[in-house]
Amino acid sequence: LNPGDEVIFHEPCYVSYSPSILLAHGCAVAVETSKADAFSLKPENLAAAITPRTRVLMLNFPTNPTGAVASREDLEGIAKLAIEHDLIVLTDEIYSELRYDGLTHLSIASLPGMRERTVLLHGFSKAFAMTGFRLGYACAPQPIIEAMMKIHQYSMLCAPIMSQCAALEALENGTPAMLAMRDSYHQRRDFIVSRLNQIGLDCHTPGGAFYVFPDIRSTGLTSQQFAMGLLEAENVAAVPGSAFGPSGEGFLRCCYATAFADLRSAMDKIERFVQAL
Ligand SMILES: Cc1ncc(COP(=O)(O)O)c(C=O)c1O
Repeated sequence: LNPGDEVIFHEPCYVSYSPSILLAHGCAVAVETSKADAFSLKPENLAAAITPRTRVLMLNFPTNPTGAVASREDLEGIAKLAIEHDLIVLTDEIYSELRYDGLTHLSIASLPGMRERTVLLHGFSKAFAMTGFRLGYACAPQPIIEAMMKIHQYSMLCAPIMSQCAALEALENGTPAMLAMRDSYHQRRDFIVSRLNQIGLDCHTPGGAFYVFPDIRSTGLTSQQFAMGLLEAENVAAVPGSAFGPSGEGFLRCCYATAFADLRSAMDKIERFVQAL
């Protein structure tokens, strides 16, 4: 990026996107997504944010913190805009295996004309629950990877060999365990969405990842007040939606990548907390 170049990302989003753009001397341009659109990025909203300075578009489906999944139609519309405006697309697909309700994963990189302008990011932290191994990867056209290597080889050296061996084992033999874990996440998602709605915290059903993003505006609290109050009163940790950008205000990010028994207890505690307000 040259100073002043704009990078568009959809928000609410993973916390590091905006700071990473600033670190690269770019100008971070957030496009808000909404509950009404199931937090997908609508091509028309993207089109309105594109300017002659736009260089890169960052995507993350399924999304942290909303669990949103983009439809083929939306991705095709986004791809069309990327080609029209000659954008590089950075697509963080780290949750691609964790999709529910029979949804299959569609990478924007696979759409016509996109492979040559897409950097696909993935890693082993989510599908294989290998967070501590610190292993991720990027797939991109050779000139982009070569440019990335100029920085990477002097700042990272290389990924730990033990992590690489573990990742190889995950790729060769880990799929059955991953699928069993995904089934269990699916059950946990259904449980947590249904309990939150019962409690009166309106919650859409996310198509992927392991987060739900209930609307807490009916309580009259800000997301920060809700999250801190819940932590102090009931020892339940959730992240205020505002941590994921201004459009996350009024929502709470709940992660269900934990044991069913803990989720049951957390939901009972959230119910007690809301009733006591
Ligand atoms: C969207 C997204 N991208 C990337 C990461 C980074 O994962 P890790 O650093 O564990 O590979 C996360 C972790 O929460 C994430 O939610």
